[in-house]
Amino acid sequence: MPEDKPTSGQRGDPAADAVRQASQKASQQASQQASQHWDPHRYNRNAGFVAELGAPLLDLLQPAKGERVLDLGCGEGALTAKIAAAGAAVVGVDSSPEQVAAAKARGLDARVMNGEALTFEAEFDAVLSNAALHWMLDPDAVLRGVAAALKPGGRFVAEMGGQGNVETITQALFASLQARGADPVKACPWYFPAPEAYQARLEAAGFAVESIALIPRPTPLPGEIGGWLETFAEAFLKQVPADEGLALIAEVAERLRPSLCDSEGRWSADYVRLRFVARLAG
Ligand SMILES: C[S@@+](CC[C@H](N)C(=O)[O-])C[C@H]1O[C@@H](n2cnc3c(N)ncnc32)[C@H](O)[C@@H]1O
Repeated sequence: MPEDKPTSGQRGDPAADAVRQASQKASQQASQQASQHWDPHRYNRNAGFVAELGAPLLDLLQPAKGERVLDLGCGEGALTAKIAAAGAAVVGVDSSPEQVAAAKARGLDARVMNGEALTFEAEFDAVLSNAALHWMLDPDAVLRGVAAALKPGGRFVAEMGGQGNVETITQALFASLQARGADPVKACPWYFPAPEAYQARLEAAGFAVESIALIPRPTPLPGEIGGWLETFAEAFLKQVPADEGLALIAEVAERLRPSLCDSEGRWSADYVRLRFVARLAG
């Protein structure tokens, strides 16, 4: 299997190189779930767009009445509910008990489970995953579990952060943490693969890849970049003492303002998604 390609960015740029190294190292580390806490209320406030922008996955999934579908990393269940509304029997799994509780409050079948240690056996027609796979730092374990969970010929439809995702934000975090003597490489909680690398992993796990592509998607944020950092960059923020957290966020925001905030004060994030459809051998 080819090595995962580094994240995008200009070659020879030390900050981009550091981000690449972190992404590669992250893919080899054990899960760092403890470094990230998912609060469904904060998530709704700062990241409701994540599930909204995942809606195209449903067009690719085409959930049918009577099918059994697994939503991997279901969060508080916004997309899971849409799959259920299509008439499929959907099970959502997520490692965050708080997110699972919020999904259950919607009346969904949601369970606390680590995506790197799925326990299903040949029981789903399809697996969907939106914005969750890049938090799972052992991708081969995830893919083994997804393959085991699917019936023969089952489909796997997903979108995750891909090569180059939030690179501007990551570079700013790296710069501010390094200036404080902290080690951002150790903290990086994300795995943002290139299409070729992830396709190789999918094929090694027994999937035929029907489509896979990077989709640059600069994304307007519902508020300031600080809300995004609090919601998604906790692992980095924890590298400084708690009473320095707000100062760190303010500093990172000032680094990012020229590139991610427009003249009207509207913030965006430099998302790059990796979207794919794969099918398990029949
Ligand atoms: C950005 S949210 C996406 C949630 C949902 N799919 C959506 O579209 O709104 C990422 C989710 O992945 C979950 N997650 C992260 N690591 C996980 C793991 N190892 N196993 C299961 N879920 C995980 C988090 O708890 C979180 O709810």
